[in-house]
Amino acid sequence: MNVDADQLKRAAAEAAFEYIHSGMVLGLGTGSTVRPLLKLLGDALASGSLAGIVAVPTSIDTELQARAMGIELIGLSDRPAIDLTIDGADEVTPGLDLIKGAGGALLREKMVAQVSRRLIIIADDSKSAEHLGLLSPLPVEVIPWELKSQVRFLESRGAEVAIRQSDDGDPVESDNGLLFLDCWFPGGIDDPVSLEKAMQARAGIVESGLFLGLADEALIASEGGVEVRRRSE
Ligand code: A5P
Repeated sequence: MNVDADQLKRAAAEAAFEYIHSGMVLGLGTGSTVRPLLKLLGDALASGSLAGIVAVPTSIDTELQARAMGIELIGLSDRPAIDLTIDGADEVTPGLDLIKGAGGALLREKMVAQVSRRLIIIADDSKSAEHLGLLSPLPVEVIPWELKSQVRFLESRGAEVAIRQSDDGDPVESDNGLLFLDCWFPGGIDDPVSLEKAMQARAGIVESGLFLGLADEALIASEGGVEVRRRSE
């Protein structure tokens, strides 16, 4: 049987839906893999099979979709912790390190992930990577002022850097009014921990799409079924 990417994304979302229980505080990720999850959740709340759920969206896009599905939304500041966040990714390694942010939501996604008791990543198997940085660029969210200075800094760390642009050539602005630098590392990212540390120390870089040690589980859908990967401590 030939299974397309949308079917695999839906399979991963369906598997993640099983982890949701009534009364939970949820973090809702962003992207095309999370979309079918929002529909499942909205339907379950409408039918009454789930109740008492409130959720924190990780982007304006997810916020609009969740509202349309009748999911009750709260802010990140409203609760000290989130029970469960379910989100997509652009790359997932066997150790559950991630690249995220192709959809532009990395900053809010990381803020939500950091206060989540459990982070489950859902993806189709095209996102599965042995080594970070080979399949997709690393998105880095930066302040717009003196952008070239950040480009030079990231180049000095071995990246080939592109300012993310819309189809009409304008820089893409994030939900936070910031810009994105998409960084390709020829041969992949050698030392993600030291790269992340350097970016954290750099004024003007607000956040990177490296999610190291944050995910607890990944549900990876392929033609053979949904593989559950757990992070080994
Ligand atoms: C949003 O900024 C991203 O981090 C997404 O979670 C990631 O790009 C996965 O998106 P898809 O599910 O659309 O592939």
